Amino acid sequence: MDTVRSLLVMGTQTLSRSGIVSPRHEARILLEKVSNMSRLQMITNPDQTLPSDVKETFMRLLKARGQDRMPVSRLVGEREFWSLSFQLSSATLDPRPDSETLIEGILSHVLEAKPLKVLDLGTGSGCLLITLLTEFKVSWGVGIDLSREALLTAQLNAKNLGVSERSHFIQMDWARGLQETFNVIVSNPPYIPENEVPTLSPEVRLYDPYQALTAGPEGLESYRYIAPEMKRLLVPGGLCAIEIGKGQQEPVEDLFIKAGLTLLEWRSDLAGISRCGFFVNR
Ligand SMILES: C[S@@+](CC[C@H](N)C(=O)[O-])C[C@H]1O[C@@H](n2cnc3c(N)ncnc32)[C@H](O)[C@@H]1O
Repeated sequence: MDTVRSLLVMGTQTLSRSGIVSPRHEARILLEKVSNMSRLQMITNPDQTLPSDVKETFMRLLKARGQDRMPVSRLVGEREFWSLSFQLSSATLDPRPDSETLIEGILSHVLEAKPLKVLDLGTGSGCLLITLLTEFKVSWGVGIDLSREALLTAQLNAKNLGVSERSHFIQMDWARGLQETFNVIVSNPPYIPENEVPTLSPEVRLYDPYQALTAGPEGLESYRYIAPEMKRLLVPGGLCAIEIGKGQQEPVEDLFIKAGLTLLEWRSDLAGISRCGFFVNR
């Protein structure tokens, strides 16, 4: 009979042979998922035997992870962002820890002295808008995406995280049809140059939606649409927080300054790369 311990060892070895960087950590997450046991239960009951169907499902997930390179977050169907759990679908980007820099920056610049209106352009799983609405307790917001399927996942996440009454999700090409004004606009748009997509890791290239990754030959097309809309969509004094790709600070700053906004600061991600710009509508 297979035990928690023996399956964990087997899973770790399988993922390690496939070149997965954190094989034990990932094997543990997959085993938690298929056995329905918590981390604590697995640690305190290593000799517990597990039924053969759990082993079969575990082996299937190990193959999908090791050979097919599907990320663990997609295999378990969820990703933690800002300590909240977000469901994923094939139409949503897998939220990245780097994007938490947007949340940190916004919270440092904006006080919720009264209900705020928040706009998230390219909402995907809804992680940015929903996280902000869990922090801003009386505010409401709009999440926009081209993908209807992504919006369904965002709606589900808003419901699971208790903000569905304060959030609206709209299928739209950026903000073309919007007439409202907002106190905070956040966006993590696609920004990878088209010719770099084939060089991305299989985990990203094969499983994140193409539409969520890339925007034109230099990766700047989304900013060219979004920046000129900011003056019209932000209230006076409103904040715009935008994520960028490596090396894009200068051209993106130019676009937002030309659009009439004032730069507050750039913040770097966990790797020290300039990642998020914060602009105000003065
Ligand atoms: C990099 S993903 C960001 C998703 C999510 N905000 C996050 O941070 O994880 C960019 C999102 O923009 C959406 N998108 C791409 N082009 C768009 C457009 N023209 N109008 C609206 N959304 C668009 C994609 O579908 C995708 O969900």
